[in-house]
Amino acid sequence: MPVSDYQLIEAWREVLTLSRVEPGQTVTILTGAATHPQTLACALIAAQSKGAVVNRLDLPPVNGEKSLSRDALAYLGETPLTGNRAAIAALKESDLVLDLMTLLFSPEQHDILKSGTKILLAVEPPEVLVRMTPSLADRERVLAAARRIERAREMRVTSAAGTDLRCPLGEFPAIAEYGFVDEPGRWDHWPSGFALTFPNEGRASGRIVIDRGDILLPQKSYCTEPIVLTVENGYATSIEGGVDAALLRDYMASFDDREAYAISHIGWGLQKRAYWSTLGLYDREATLGMDARAYDGNFLFSLGPNNEGGGTRTTACHIDIPLRGCTVSLDGADVVRDGKTIEGQA
Ligand SMILES: [Fe+2]
Repeated sequence: MPVSDYQLIEAWREVLTLSRVEPGQTVTILTGAATHPQTLACALIAAQSKGAVVNRLDLPPVNGEKSLSRDALAYLGETPLTGNRAAIAALKESDLVLDLMTLLFSPEQHDILKSGTKILLAVEPPEVLVRMTPSLADRERVLAAARRIERAREMRVTSAAGTDLRCPLGEFPAIAEYGFVDEPGRWDHWPSGFALTFPNEGRASGRIVIDRGDILLPQKSYCTEPIVLTVENGYATSIEGGVDAALLRDYMASFDDREAYAISHIGWGLQKRAYWSTLGLYDREATLGMDARAYDGNFLFSLGPNNEGGGTRTTACHIDIPLRGCTVSLDGADVVRDGKTIEGQA
């Protein structure tokens, strides 16, 4: 169902308030070929209504010929900012960048954040943005989970389907994504609601079973038969199963990059307004699948880069896989049990 401009403007105003936008600050809205026109129009009005100096910076797409899908998260490589000094300067001079284009995992983004500029990514369809307008309660819940990760030395994940993964922790920080940017230099994604970190380099080991009904992203498909990943020394060394496994192997092989198989971020979903079933209601090109990443109690792991967490691994291939029905424990204490977050622990 569509949402009204009024609803979306009010949602933007709430996000801008949570992001501490003050009169006279500079807000730059970064747009591209796939920017949703209603989201842009409402962001422009909301930012002006907060008294901000508002710019729009529209950049042409790149990587179209390399990416195998239209999903903006499917191919991580050069961005429209690569070598674009004028655009980088404009963004560094802004207090807040509203990224309606999808600028992810690039050195230029890190550079802009280091200058103190805040960046908020918002590219999901308007009705998804409105449904998952973030709140201070979301922030508290996700930060509590991030603090639990920060203290832990091992994350273990098990499931009735056969997952048994051990990830030593401590080399990388815990990251909280709660949907707004309330501190200088912060990046976040509206909508979200999960806590994550990365396993110590080369140390994740065990077995991951992607069960029937689990979701692959950017494939945006529900698995129809189990896929079994063997994880050794931080990498998925085999991907076994039926057609779903073969499709995943074929897609990953197209990148011809060993680093694509590394275990990347690990964590769990904490957003109760996100749903496992939502992805099935959408055309694949209409959404990034943030419901799938954020729904409460999933174990979200990924394959690919760790530069987002301060590591050195970059690869154009990045796959996010939220699993249902897992038990996630930190140093032996469950934070998610059989796919349900344990209140007080998370
Ligand atoms: Fe990811």
